[in-house]
Amino acid sequence: MFDEFGFPADADAAYAGPVLETFVYCSRAAEGVDDAEVDRIIEFSQSRNVARDITGVLVFGSGVFFQWVEGPPAQVESLIASLHGDPRHYDIVTLDRSAEERARLYPNWEMERVGADDIRAVLQEALESAENENNIAALKRILEHLDSGPVDTLHPSATKREGAGR
Ligand SMILES: Cc1cc2nc3c(=O)[nH]c(=O)nc-3n(C[C@H](O)[C@H](O)[C@H](O)COP(=O)(O)O)c2cc1C
Repeated sequence: MFDEFGFPADADAAYAGPVLETFVYCSRAAEGVDDAEVDRIIEFSQSRNVARDITGVLVFGSGVFFQWVEGPPAQVESLIASLHGDPRHYDIVTLDRSAEERARLYPNWEMERVGADDIRAVLQEALESAENENNIAALKRILEHLDSGPVDTLHPSATKREGAGR
């Protein structure tokens, strides 16, 4: 258990915990998804995620969601299926999906409402590391949406298109 120096023998060995599945994506809120609906999503997710041992972060701003979830693969896969069938958001762009043995990046469930600048920074960073062409195109679309609309709009249909050109 201890090596000759008195340190735990596995102190610098690779993490040997259970496999965690990670799913990171961004999406756009559907028309009609107002603050009250976002509150409902948060409230539901909070209790459901605790029950499923899923943690992560959900960021919402200017009609765009960004979510990072991690947890047992079967639970995360079931959530991914639910998310893809949820009409409250669309243009879902998978930014990362992987399974590995590692400690959680988000040991708790967190939720943040952020402004357009913050959500833009998150998407810009995702765009810089994106490799998949479809994801790159979708991220650019969402960024254009952010650049073209009033910052407080929740509904894509309310987005003003003027000024959206290059
Ligand atoms: C942006 C967004 C994020 C969501 N995040 C979660 C979540 O973290 N956990 C969760 O259980 N449901 C979340 N939901 C709700 C799911 O899409 C789905 O409605 C819920 O899991 C119930 O699915 P079921 O009817 O297939 O069981 C989210 C929905 C949206 C639109």
